Amino acid sequence: MRKIIAPSILNCDLAELRQECEQVLGFGAHWLHLDIMDGHFVSNLSVGPGVVKSLRSHFPSVYFDCHLMVSAPENWVGAFADAGASSFTFHLETQPDLNSLENLLVSIRARSMKTGIAIKPSTAISEDMLSVLNKGLVDLVLVMTVEPGYGGQKFMHDTMAKVSFIRERFPNIDIEVDGGVNNETIQVANKAGANVFVLGTYIFWAADKQQTISELLKLVDSGI
Ligand code: DX5
Ligand code: ZN
Repeated sequence: MRKIIAPSILNCDLAELRQECEQVLGFGAHWLHLDIMDGHFVSNLSVGPGVVKSLRSHFPSVYFDCHLMVSAPENWVGAFADAGASSFTFHLETQPDLNSLENLLVSIRARSMKTGIAIKPSTAISEDMLSVLNKGLVDLVLVMTVEPGYGGQKFMHDTMAKVSFIRERFPNIDIEVDGGVNNETIQVANKAGANVFVLGTYIFWAADKQQTISELLKLVDSGI
């Protein structure tokens, strides 16, 4: 299974966004993880489709892993597709029923983006979620390993049971962990079955980003 390192720009130097992205990609990171927050689904604000669009003009072929922590994500599918998002990961908690969940996933694929479903630490894997996974409508499951909204929080180990549960049933799906990932917790998540690792402060606040990323790449490659 491929292993992906996805730096989250949430806590990079946003006034130097382009250079920050160039640097981590140059050091071997695979994707850019772009956190979108609306101040409603989570109590923080971040960037919107305009920033995704500007980044796309400078990085034509980089995978933009867009994590939408917004209420009513269905209102934003068109804007993020137009901006050049590679994937559109929304929160399961925003969808009232199976019908809306399926419709949203279908509309994301119709705009040629990969589909992702994120779940908060306290959200269980529901029957509705298993249903859309079984139908093959989901490319990625994002298991939040902290409460969404802010970087720099502590990894919640009890979320790993959800990673293992999904990995046992879906050997080929991408399982992403986001929040509190560092050189120790990345190994825990890797062993549990995750293969996409989001790191915000651990990479962007590191004294030596190059060394940090190469160590992370070695850790996931040498893991299970
Ligand atoms: C939090 C965001 C994360 C955040 C992770 O809601 O989804 O992507 O940037 O930051 P760290 O790695 O510092 O926990
Ligand atoms: Zn995120």
